[in-house]
Amino acid sequence: MGELSPLRRSRITGVGHYLPEHIVSNDEISLRVETSDAWITERTGIRQRHFSAPFETTAFMGAAASREALAAAGVEADSVDAIILATATPDQAFPATAVHVQAAIGAKRAFAFDISAACSGFIYALSVADSMIRCGQVSTVLVIGSEVYSRILNFEDRGTCVLFGDGAGAVVLQAKTGGEGAGILSTHLHSDGAFAEILYVDGAVGQRDRPGHLVMNGREVFRQAVTLLSSAVNEALEANGLTAKDIDWLVPHQANRRIIDGVGKKLGLPPERVVVTVDKHANTSAASIPLALYQAVSDGRIKPGQLILLEALGGGLTWGSALLRL
Ligand code: UT7
Repeated sequence: MGELSPLRRSRITGVGHYLPEHIVSNDEISLRVETSDAWITERTGIRQRHFSAPFETTAFMGAAASREALAAAGVEADSVDAIILATATPDQAFPATAVHVQAAIGAKRAFAFDISAACSGFIYALSVADSMIRCGQVSTVLVIGSEVYSRILNFEDRGTCVLFGDGAGAVVLQAKTGGEGAGILSTHLHSDGAFAEILYVDGAVGQRDRPGHLVMNGREVFRQAVTLLSSAVNEALEANGLTAKDIDWLVPHQANRRIIDGVGKKLGLPPERVVVTVDKHANTSAASIPLALYQAVSDGRIKPGQLILLEALGGGLTWGSALLRL
């Protein structure tokens, strides 16, 4: 990275997670819909997912993940300047789920808001937080992804209901100067509303007669995913003058093992440098990247100083990447 600069950068200083207690195996879901463990495993890599109990709301899980991230960072809740929560399954149309997290953790000084970018939500939230930190508006931000997709699944559609799960992940992002080039190096965001109809919810939070179910043209999303994600990761590498060889870990959105492998292969990254949690969590949308990051940081695979590439694609379509040195 050349000479150390006094550049103000955003660094991840703590990671936290929450997964609902109730684990649902493929065999268990086969009792609700005509499918099988063999089909789900072969086509997606998913073996189980967590489904939330009524008390495990988006705010509840987001707050639990945030407490763990704050403790890992050694940051008190009242030092947090902003809370940005990415979700496609907010507890209410308003207020934002983020303000419920604020109240639950006692982050009295913070301002809080939600971001809606479906499965790309965490990358979008990270990008917004990074911009606010770099421009000096804030110094400490909680960036959260929290989802309860089990509440919007159509259990009569086997093409979608087997794919998703619930959970939350959070990171503490803090302004740092110097630090040997550590921090977020770049984020790239994209969307294309022309694809809105291949992945959407056919209703809205708060519509009592039509709360909405997830609808997806899986084959078309799959087709777009490998192409758009590969171009997003190349864009991140090119913008930083790096190649795939420089990447220590790819931490992708966890939708389908075949998409993850496809992007890894196009990049030329060996599977040992790709974090995979889709087998245990299924697709937790905005929560999937911070959950995967938590997993690999807490089991010691991801270490300080390493170069990490995050990527996601979701409803919108939205997609993007973030490159960071931990
Ligand atoms: O987070 C970002 C958004 N989501 C994604 O990135 C997901 C992207 N899409 C996918 O992961 C895959 O397209 C799926 C996993 C959803 C589906 O896999 P596929 O290989 O594209 O299968 P398909 O939709 O082409 O369906 C193949 C067959 C069909 O039967 P016929 O028409 O060939 O007789 C389906 O009816 O598999 C059948 N099928 C199932 N069978 C057993 C679909 N879902 C199931 C199921 N169990 N759960």
